[in-house]
Amino acid sequence: MTETSWRDTLRALPVFSGDLPDFDTAAAPQTPVELLEEWVRTAIDSDVSQPHVMTLSTATTDGAPSARSLILKDITDEGLWFASLDSGPKGREIATNPRAALTLYWREQGRQIRVSGSIEKGPREVSERDFLARKPGARAAAIAGPQSEVLASKEKFSQRVEEAKAIFEFRPDFVPDEWTAYLVRPESVEFWQASRDRDQIRLRYSRDGGGWAKNLLWP
Ligand SMILES: Cc1cc2nc3c(=O)[nH]c(=O)nc-3n(C[C@H](O)[C@H](O)[C@H](O)COP(=O)(O)O)c2cc1C
Repeated sequence: MTETSWRDTLRALPVFSGDLPDFDTAAAPQTPVELLEEWVRTAIDSDVSQPHVMTLSTATTDGAPSARSLILKDITDEGLWFASLDSGPKGREIATNPRAALTLYWREQGRQIRVSGSIEKGPREVSERDFLARKPGARAAAIAGPQSEVLASKEKFSQRVEEAKAIFEFRPDFVPDEWTAYLVRPESVEFWQASRDRDQIRLRYSRDGGGWAKNLLWP
């Protein structure tokens, strides 16, 4: 019996199936945030799986990149928001190299959005509001121990979560200083739309003085 190689197995997998939405670039709005809002709204209305999950890429000052999934928490005229602890690896990278990229990908629609720009901490009250809106278990997990450090055992985690829950019983409005709402201010945003016939459409918005320049890109 010959075993199929990984190369053949992977090549045989379909990438896009089903109906894909149109992308009329001539009708694209003036700003990327408006188009982003349109696409996120369409993704939600079309029952795309986890339309609010995105990849955040950061880098150390000497250029070593790292990426992870996060939840998109808000969209405002200023940009895209997420929340995390500022004490872990991503927080340290952002503190020394305040530039970031975000990638959203919706397989059901063959859509990708790539955002790059500067990143900053939002106002304290936004961080607090975000933390207090988390479910109790998620709040406890966030303060249970140092995110991304080596954990001795699962039991240790459970024990620290229980201890953390007790803190919230006494102080229901406790918000750790490290919990941070971050804002990514876009400088470049690219919208990518697949089609069944492989005619991919790419539209990039780039900051241009006070406004935005729009350009189609070669696929
Ligand atoms: C779907 C999904 C959503 C996530 N959402 C968040 C989030 O909103 N905030 C967060 O700090 N970590 C979130 N995580 C965990 C991060 O991917 C990551 O493991 C964690 O933030 C540590 O990252 P760092 O070590 O690069 O700082 C999420 C993971 C997944 C898979």
